[in-house]
Amino acid sequence: MSTKLSSITKKKTSEKKFTPRIVVFACNWCSYAGADNAGVSRIQYSPNFRIIRTMCSGRVTPGMVLKAFKLGADGVLVSGCHLGDCHYIFGNHRAIENFERTQAIIKTLGLEEGRLRLEWVSAAEGPRFGQLIDEFVGEVTKLGPSPLNNSNRRK
Ligand code: FES
Repeated sequence: MSTKLSSITKKKTSEKKFTPRIVVFACNWCSYAGADNAGVSRIQYSPNFRIIRTMCSGRVTPGMVLKAFKLGADGVLVSGCHLGDCHYIFGNHRAIENFERTQAIIKTLGLEEGRLRLEWVSAAEGPRFGQLIDEFVGEVTKLGPSPLNNSNRRK
């Protein structure tokens, strides 16, 4: 009886679908407001992400992204104002530089490039924010769990 029960449990465990953990760094003035807009507009999109508000996308350093991966993220999205709209003038240009440096580091660590993404979302683009999250969750789901943290993922 107990053998039968354990085989059923094993089968259920192996059939469990992978749901990626996504961390989104969103700038305060555009992308975070865009996420808020998505919520207020009741846009339906994937719930398996956590959003971290930063004052500007240029504030997101490679160290912050790497820490997110270290703590269990399967994918990281950095999001800011459209080019020319940054409230700190050149912040999102700095975000591009940081993104390129971070991409090089994660490649060296053996992570797929698709696990890190940089996108521009304005405060008025709630539907786009939802669409972006769904798209990114789909891509990371295809990649599977991050090879960096399979063993020490928090429950
Ligand atoms: S304030 Fe949004 S990217 Fe700089």
